[in-house]
Amino acid sequence: MSEILDIILRRRAVKVFDPVDISVETRDQILKAASVAPSSFNSQPYRFYWVQSPEKLKRAARLCFGQKPAATASALVVAVADIASWRETAQAEIAWMRTAGFFSAEKIAEAEKRMKVGKWFFLQGWFGIFGILKLMILRTIHLWTITGTIPVARKGMFKWAGKSAALACANLMIAAEALGLNTCPMEGFDDLRLAQLVGLSPKNHEILMVIAVGKKSAEHLDRPQWRRPLESTVTVL
Ligand SMILES: Cc1cc2nc3c(=O)[nH]c(=O)nc-3n(C[C@H](O)[C@H](O)[C@H](O)COP(=O)(O)O)c2cc1C
Repeated sequence: MSEILDIILRRRAVKVFDPVDISVETRDQILKAASVAPSSFNSQPYRFYWVQSPEKLKRAARLCFGQKPAATASALVVAVADIASWRETAQAEIAWMRTAGFFSAEKIAEAEKRMKVGKWFFLQGWFGIFGILKLMILRTIHLWTITGTIPVARKGMFKWAGKSAALACANLMIAAEALGLNTCPMEGFDDLRLAQLVGLSPKNHEILMVIAVGKKSAEHLDRPQWRRPLESTVTVL
């Protein structure tokens, strides 16, 4: 079995950690692995808050209802879906294309055009009215031809961003495992207070999950892993 597959298969949600220091190098490797996950339009619509300072860690753990994985973790990663970063990201990517020495002027012009068109995908307008209007137009066109769908309103935008953010979270957990650490994803937390603690914008940010990172303690007992059989979750057509 490939080593990567082995790491994926052995990852478990670990409930108790031993106190260990995570080096800056390891932390950056984990975060780098998260950042290379695929994302919609390569827009990487998320932000990770790596909480490690003892004081902030203690406060964050309390806001995770004092759950044992949070209370014993060496770091807590607050994974945030960010619906406002797409414009800046697109501009940064085009600026990078200009200096990368790889892309022709034609390709750069194409990317600029794509960014201009792409913005209509994201814009929601006042009270989300433009988003609803876009969907109605799409649904009408759909009566005659093949069309996709678009995110509608803030909720739709968070759903859109959450998909890419969740993939980055999975990469993060697998990378931690590969580097000899363990993790526990959690959605048991006080989202409003935690958002305040890490300094989020209520308008543009939503916490997706908190990932406890640390070294599995001998106190943690891996219960046998149960999954629904593949025929319950997979349809082969
Ligand atoms: C989105 C999400 C939220 C979760 N929330 C919690 C949580 O709040 N506390 C906890 O102890 N585990 C939490 N878990 C871990 C799951 O309970 C665990 O992944 C599941 O039971 C399967 O166990 P395994 O990952 O060890 O195979 C969460 C997992 C996910 C993906």
